[in-house]
Amino acid sequence: MSRPALLAPSLISADFSRLGAEIDAVLAAGADMIHYDVMDNHYVPNLSIGPLVLSSLRRAGCRAEFDVHLMVEPVDDLVEEFARAGARTLIVHPAATRHLDRTLARIRALGCRAGLALNPADGLEALGYERDALDVVLVMTVNPGFAGQTFLPHVLPKIRALRRWIDDGVSPVRLEVDGGIDARTIVEARRAGAEAFVAGSAVFGQSDSAAALRALRRAVAEADGEGLAGAG
Ligand code: DX5
Ligand code: ZN
Repeated sequence: MSRPALLAPSLISADFSRLGAEIDAVLAAGADMIHYDVMDNHYVPNLSIGPLVLSSLRRAGCRAEFDVHLMVEPVDDLVEEFARAGARTLIVHPAATRHLDRTLARIRALGCRAGLALNPADGLEALGYERDALDVVLVMTVNPGFAGQTFLPHVLPKIRALRRWIDDGVSPVRLEVDGGIDARTIVEARRAGAEAFVAGSAVFGQSDSAAALRALRRAVAEADGEGLAGAG
């Protein structure tokens, strides 16, 4: 049984002069989560948004599920601030904390899902003994820092290996992919075992983000259909 595909448009490609309307449009088109890329111009060579924007979206009545990707170092203080601001999932990079197990436990203690991001050069050994401390593994299919990059196909074997690693365990862990996801690469990632898909430029970077999201939904549904056909 294939897991439902979750689509998470990334705000990094949205029009920041009308962020609320941008989010409303993709939620109405069926987005499952909103991916919130936090970049500090230290861990990655780019600077984006902090917890204040998330707080103001919540105050304006936004009820979206925010999948917060912390490309920041150090990360522990921002974990606290984003949890208070209304994050639902907090994803950290292992290199951004000295004590990964403590950071993941703190995220869960704050009532959020705990996620770990694997950069393209990271192997599954970066997950260490954290299998039961994790709710999400975010597999970077680009090098972190920018939207609009090209999907790295050499990450596909890692996605397949991670799918097996997750399925060999007991507690559920969401396998999420991030970077260069469009109507073509979402099929490759889905076939490799991914279940959640971040897309910035392929959704908010398009003139009609709702139609672009629906196109991704059709593409992954076709991949599932083919898969079912193949499994028959
Ligand atoms: C890159 C970010 C990704 C990226 C997604 O560091 O983590 O979320 O912005 O944008 P696209 O889908 O355009 O690669
Ligand atoms: Zn991201």
